[in-house]
Amino acid sequence: MASGKEQEQQGFKQARCVKVHGPIIVGAGPSGLAAAACLSQQGVPSLILEKSDCIASLWQQRTYDRLKLHLPKQFCELPLLGFPANFPKYPNKSQFISYMESYASHFNIHPKFNQAVKKAEYDRAKGIWRVQTEHLEYHSRWLIAATGENAEPVIPEIAGCDKFKGTILHTSEYNSGSKFKNQRILVIGCGNSGMEVSLDLCRHNAIPHMVVRNTVHVLPREMFGMSTFGVAMALLKWFPLRLVDKLLLLVANLTLGNTDQLGLKRPKTGPIELKNVTGKTPVLDVGALSQIKSGKIKVVEGVKEITKNGVKFMDGQEKEFESIILATGYKSNVPTWLKGCDFFTKDGMPKTPFPKGWKGENGLYAVGFTRRGLLGTASDAVKIAHDIAGEWKRAKESIRSCNSHLIIHLDHDGAK
Ligand SMILES: Cc1cc2nc3c(=O)[nH]c(=O)nc-3n(C[C@H](O)[C@H](O)[C@H](O)COP(=O)(O)OP(=O)(O)OC[C@H]3O[C@@H](n4cnc5c(N)ncnc54)[C@H](O)[C@@H]3O)c2cc1C
Ligand SMILES: NC(=O)c1ccc[n+]([C@@H]2O[C@H](COP(=O)([O-])OP(=O)(O)OC[C@H]3O[C@@H](n4cnc5c(N)ncnc54)[C@H](OP(=O)(O)O)[C@@H]3O)[C@@H](O)[C@H]2O)c1
Repeated sequence: MASGKEQEQQGFKQARCVKVHGPIIVGAGPSGLAAAACLSQQGVPSLILEKSDCIASLWQQRTYDRLKLHLPKQFCELPLLGFPANFPKYPNKSQFISYMESYASHFNIHPKFNQAVKKAEYDRAKGIWRVQTEHLEYHSRWLIAATGENAEPVIPEIAGCDKFKGTILHTSEYNSGSKFKNQRILVIGCGNSGMEVSLDLCRHNAIPHMVVRNTVHVLPREMFGMSTFGVAMALLKWFPLRLVDKLLLLVANLTLGNTDQLGLKRPKTGPIELKNVTGKTPVLDVGALSQIKSGKIKVVEGVKEITKNGVKFMDGQEKEFESIILATGYKSNVPTWLKGCDFFTKDGMPKTPFPKGWKGENGLYAVGFTRRGLLGTASDAVKIAHDIAGEWKRAKESIRSCNSHLIIHLDHDGAK
């Protein structure tokens, strides 16, 4: 066991220690809440440490106003308590937040807010996880990482950013296009965020230009009146993945037309195979494509450099913009706080892919790192709770049997 001074040198300041009865969960997003609810159903208490001041902070503080779920609600439910029946098929942001709030209150989940985990490390000698926040050190036999795949914005280094005299912001700071009326805006990135923010800008009479530097799959949100995702899930039960990809692309081409002609070239690999191999999510179109067709959203080349008044593109063209919105995605932050374990890659994703990436060694678990959205979260949470509950019950049994031995010994001693 390291001395206090040694611990300090290893990065653990002398902090007040709190022994946690049950697992420590880092993050009070949907994944942390789902894990806590499933544990509670198994009779296992837990403690959630959350760095912000609310639950589901990604949804409450870092998403734009017009956001709606892309997938029907039955694919975005957390375990044990579904969306209210009167919610629409695709709940909007405020409905999703209200669902999270009722979920937390239903399971009596009370995270500790403003508790950013700075460091968590396994103490082999004691067989516990030491989890450090600014002022406290929490100890538990189990640690559940629930900080999400989208914990931090990806901010690319683009030459000349410092020269630009307009505003540069990431989509996580974008609320609505109302501030950008009549402005020429460059949206860098064409994932779901880039497409939806460009659409929102159009609806607020701004003039968006969207950078597409690579290939991208755009699919309709629905096919034959059913969600494309639901159709794909159903087909995958019967047909091989590549055939399903071909069918999806056939229908997408029939309904959306040839997207290549709009500057949105399709990758050679199909949408589901690409998602499985690289994690790259296909865009589900909710209206941006028709604005691209009408020329209201202009598709532009990759950016070479940012200038004082705008941008120089890879093809040599130069254009002026008043603001630049980085729709460049998100990354996990696990490597910044989880130390001394090689369960996660340097990008903060479990090394073992889905469906086995939920369990590490020494009581370490990961929920919500499956690249499968809330469906993946639900699957992880159930398995984690089941696994921990088994250990929890065995530990309780052994304490009970130790106590009864002790009582028998005491009785014998008393009888002598
Ligand atoms: C714009 C947008 C739209 C999306 N729409 C959908 C959708 O429709 N359907 C879908 O399935 N998925 C969607 N997703 C994916 C989304 O990430 C998940 O739905 C969901 O939010 C994941 O939940 P989570 O709890 O794993 O992560 P998060 O929601 O990111 O929650 C993680 C929590 O951990 C906290 N945290 C981070 N680091 C620390 C730390 N060091 N210490 C303490 N707390 C910490 C954060 O503050 C946060 O509250 C969307 C993502 C984005 C960005
Ligand atoms: N309504 C919804 O349900 C909804 C809405 C928004 C987002 N989401 C989800 O949220 C997650 C994140 O989505 P996202 O769109 O924010 O991120 P994303 O899917 O990771 O897309 C990032 C985009 O930025 C581009 N990019 C990154 N760096 C760049 C650079 N330096 N120059 C030019 N382009 C660059 C990427 O291009 P490359 O492909 O070339 O790297 C990609 O087009 C996804 O899972 C998504 O499905 C859901």
